[in-house]
Amino acid sequence: MKIHRRKFLTSISMLAATTAFPINAFEFGKPKKLKIALIGTGIRGTSFWGKRLVDEYSDILEFVGLCDNNPGRLAYGKTYIGTSCPTFTNFKNMVKTTNPDLVIVTTKDSTHHEFIIKGLEMGCDVLTEKPLTTDESKCQAILDAEKKSSKNLIVGFNYRWSPYATKIKELLQNKSIGKVVSVDFHWYLNTYHGASYFRRWHGLMNGGGSLWVHKATHHFDLLNWWINSEPNEVFAYGDLEFYGKNGPFRGKSCRDCEHAPNCDFHWDITTDERSMALYANNEQYDGYIRDNCLFRDEIDIYDKMSAQVKYTNNTILNYSLTTYSPFEGWRVAFNGTEGRIEAWQDIPYNKTSTISEVEKHTKEMEQTNIEESQYEPMILHKLWSEHETIQVEMEKTGHGGGDKRLHDKIFRNPEIADPYGRTAGIRDGAMSVLIGIAARRSIEKGSPIRIGDLTDLVPKTERS
Ligand SMILES: NC(=O)c1ccc[n+]([C@@H]2O[C@H](COP(=O)([O-])OP(=O)(O)OC[C@H]3O[C@@H](n4cnc5c(N)ncnc54)[C@H](O)[C@@H]3O)[C@@H](O)[C@H]2O)c1
Repeated sequence: MKIHRRKFLTSISMLAATTAFPINAFEFGKPKKLKIALIGTGIRGTSFWGKRLVDEYSDILEFVGLCDNNPGRLAYGKTYIGTSCPTFTNFKNMVKTTNPDLVIVTTKDSTHHEFIIKGLEMGCDVLTEKPLTTDESKCQAILDAEKKSSKNLIVGFNYRWSPYATKIKELLQNKSIGKVVSVDFHWYLNTYHGASYFRRWHGLMNGGGSLWVHKATHHFDLLNWWINSEPNEVFAYGDLEFYGKNGPFRGKSCRDCEHAPNCDFHWDITTDERSMALYANNEQYDGYIRDNCLFRDEIDIYDKMSAQVKYTNNTILNYSLTTYSPFEGWRVAFNGTEGRIEAWQDIPYNKTSTISEVEKHTKEMEQTNIEESQYEPMILHKLWSEHETIQVEMEKTGHGGGDKRLHDKIFRNPEIADPYGRTAGIRDGAMSVLIGIAARRSIEKGSPIRIGDLTDLVPKTERS
């Protein structure tokens, strides 16, 4: 049986998990390797979608091109990834010259649409990092391009793949608490990870679309998946009260800041070899300062955010995102007609042992294969019964073990059953960013925003 690449990638991205096919059943199967071209040789592109693919999947895939508009970072990225493929500073040239099967997009968020659309138009399947994009018109342009193309678009949502998130999905899917009627979801970014967003392009609305999109796309994707419905209406508040112009002083960059001795946020990039190699050593090409002052005046995103979302199936969501918490973690609670689920991660007061706040983000982003598993509890409390504590075995590295499971599903074992529908396609990508975009618009207008008014997607009562 000869099955087309289009079918293969459709099976990954469009949920048809149980009907997915093994990788060697495809035209690119052994001895032909999947040809990958990557744009955006920053930290995520070189590590998760770069070096990790070379280290773990070189038997089934190969890089045929790397592209970045910063030639210095591009050269470093090539060495770090460990590939001998050619490099390009022009995306079209790369695709024309290398004719890849798959384009991976890991540039800054506000530019994703450009490469997704060009990639599809040039006849490639495209895998983009989250968020799909940063505003509604770019989102519509992507939807239109995908409709016109015979190729597919995958959105790399890794959070769904963590065992903890999957356990919640399993309990909800099995109707353990009946019909879910409301959800409280609160995410706390600490003064290391939260602050890091304000040091670079994420701090500008025109870079990442604000944390409503850049960060919350992960959360809204989880919620859409857990609730199993699509958002209908969003009302939000948000403000910038801590970082940016609110700071007591400001400097050019942490490296040469006269306020360093008095600044709790001072970060010495010169002690971080990888950040120096990726960013500081290549500033002369594009002026990208990685250790920018997080109190600089130009920061225009929100640092406190709260939204109410009404889903098409009538579930109500209360959401908040904090960016300068003393600890990093999250809590979720689902109220159902037959009980309640409470789940949380990394709340220090609920733990017997913990790692330091400085280490947390490093662990989350780490791409090691050394298993470091532990049990994390969640509570299932059915009406009229004693509560039950469910212990979930999970890992701390690579976004709770989600990263490597996502890779395996895409590249190694697309045939692995996915009874919880963890694979995400363009509609999932769009629905998760549209909540954040609607929240932004709601703050600007002071009124609720209907998701159906943003693009031509009509929200569904039940995700399919
Ligand atoms: N899923 C996750 O958990 C996760 C984690 C981290 C980052 N990300 C996503 O990965 C992407 C990259 O993030 P990062 O932290 O690596 O950022 P980064 O700034 O380190 O890297 C982005 C790279 O893109 C390049 N670039 C920017 N605009 C370009 C353009 N127009 N043409 C060519 N190159 C361009 C930059 O030079 C840089 O090398 C973002 O979309 C981010 O949201 C996802």
